[in-house]
Amino acid sequence: MNLQEIKDIYNRSLDLTPETDGEFFECAGDLLETDEIKSLEQYVQHDTINRLQHITSVAYMSYVLCKKLSLDYLVTARAGVMHDLFYYDWHEKHGGHRLHGYRHPGFAVKNAKKLCGSIDRKTENIIKRHMWPLTPTPPKYKEGFIVCFADKYCAATELITCHKNKKSR
Ligand SMILES: [Fe+2]
Ligand SMILES: [Fe+2]
Repeated sequence: MNLQEIKDIYNRSLDLTPETDGEFFECAGDLLETDEIKSLEQYVQHDTINRLQHITSVAYMSYVLCKKLSLDYLVTARAGVMHDLFYYDWHEKHGGHRLHGYRHPGFAVKNAKKLCGSIDRKTENIIKRHMWPLTPTPPKYKEGFIVCFADKYCAATELITCHKNKKSR
């Protein structure tokens, strides 16, 4: 797999529909339909990119990569959807979400448990460790490394896209 292919997966993630991407929606569509996940649309992730778009991109990229590598794509797609499940704007200064970069994986685990009733150990670990290496404990599963990679790739692409948009405004 080369960089262009990764880029293509990201671009595809911006335009997913249940009609064209049925298999992905079979894995994670029920989560994407919940009010909790939908509510992430109101929060800015990076400038013009909202958090719903960000988690969709991360989940989709993780799903495709895991499929290619014969890893657990179902769990990974679902953990990807919930990896940034917290209900505040991290740009706003607020005591409750101080040290956001370190603490939000824990908030996301808590909210994922609330949303799903319970989550399996692998899902929990993927969500909890997605900020590695900022948080020093690495993920326990290969799928966790995939989500770490997809999260960083998507965040970097979002920042570059926003920067380009600003320049052309
Ligand atoms: Fe995150
Ligand atoms: Fe993220």
